[in-house]
Amino acid sequence: MLQQIQITDSIYYVGVNDRIKDLFESLWTLPYGVSYNSYLIVDEKVALMDSVDLCYSERFLRQIDGILQGRPVDYLIVDHMEPDHSGSIGMLKRRYPNIRIVGNKKTFAMMSSYYSTIDDNLIEVSEGDTLSLGRHELTFVMAPMVHWPEVMFTYDKTDKVLFSADAFGTFGTLDGNVLDTKLDTKHYFEEMERYYSCIVGKYGKFVQKTLEKVKSMNLEIKAICPLHGPVWTDEAARAIAIYDKLSRYEAEKGAVVLYGSMYGNTAALADTIARGIGSKGIKHVVTYDVSRGNPSLIIRDVFKYRAVVVGSPTYSNGVFQPMANVLELLRVREIPDRLFSVFGSCSWAGQAVKKMTPFAEEMKWELVGEPLEQKGSPDDADLERAYALGMQIGDRLNELYR
Ligand code: FEO
Repeated sequence: MLQQIQITDSIYYVGVNDRIKDLFESLWTLPYGVSYNSYLIVDEKVALMDSVDLCYSERFLRQIDGILQGRPVDYLIVDHMEPDHSGSIGMLKRRYPNIRIVGNKKTFAMMSSYYSTIDDNLIEVSEGDTLSLGRHELTFVMAPMVHWPEVMFTYDKTDKVLFSADAFGTFGTLDGNVLDTKLDTKHYFEEMERYYSCIVGKYGKFVQKTLEKVKSMNLEIKAICPLHGPVWTDEAARAIAIYDKLSRYEAEKGAVVLYGSMYGNTAALADTIARGIGSKGIKHVVTYDVSRGNPSLIIRDVFKYRAVVVGSPTYSNGVFQPMANVLELLRVREIPDRLFSVFGSCSWAGQAVKKMTPFAEEMKWELVGEPLEQKGSPDDADLERAYALGMQIGDRLNELYR
């Protein structure tokens, strides 16, 4: 007999763990794996909250069958259409031919583009619409761009549970338990920052709008059930606070020094600049070699810290490609209000520093210090300039965080 995981007397967890996928969205590493969460509300009518990645359909259906013992699922509520959650809809339709699928107008436009055969028994809902399951009454709250346009939250007024789609989610499989009160949540909170900045980070203003809307609704919330990671009860306020801080792009006092280096010369400048920053009492200085650094950690730390210092050798008359890639990852996330400094090396004609410097203007970031470029290997004078640049960055951080 399968063990059942209950969130409340009538809400069950039916999600799955994925420890096989090495890159989420084929981009982001998963050192702790990831969970695809789904929840079953058992009432006079049965409602399933989202599905799971297609690879886990069988395990998912088995859990549902174990709870329902032959009863059908009446409704599938689709809060988010990204395939890590919608992948098993086709399988659900085959298993429960009369299932009615609940979504909004944008949900169904996406459904027809992803799964053209799923086009009947659809119930379209809008902001504030409700659905009664008997004892449970569900209310739908639109949450566009948290993370895709069709996203909505579903609030269960009866058990005071908010089903929050990707919001308040985190990487990390659910090992042993599902509720925050029954887990060691330390690494989930660390992974939450990486999850947010990489997956949802571009859409901070939409996250803020949704947070404000939910706050203004004065909902009593006893549990938040996201589509990834733990169910938040006692630690819900902490999860909300992290999403609030990150979606306001609020930075801490610290610097991220990013460099690419073919022969160690730009690397020498990077370490010297980092020491210059550290000499001003800045404790948080994180340095990454962009050829080897994990992009998701780089993005996480740029969300976290105020100063971004980038260094590149000139390569084929331009910016070293791994650095160009990192700048693009930062550009698309539209992170505001950072300090920016530039450095680099060249062998005969410097181009990288010249080409990276306008990034400050494009991002509306504050350029700190003169862009620094040197030829060949840095001599003492070059290293002194690098150290001085670091000190300038440290001074500016100290001014901003008195
Ligand atoms: Fe977990 Fe936006 O999907």
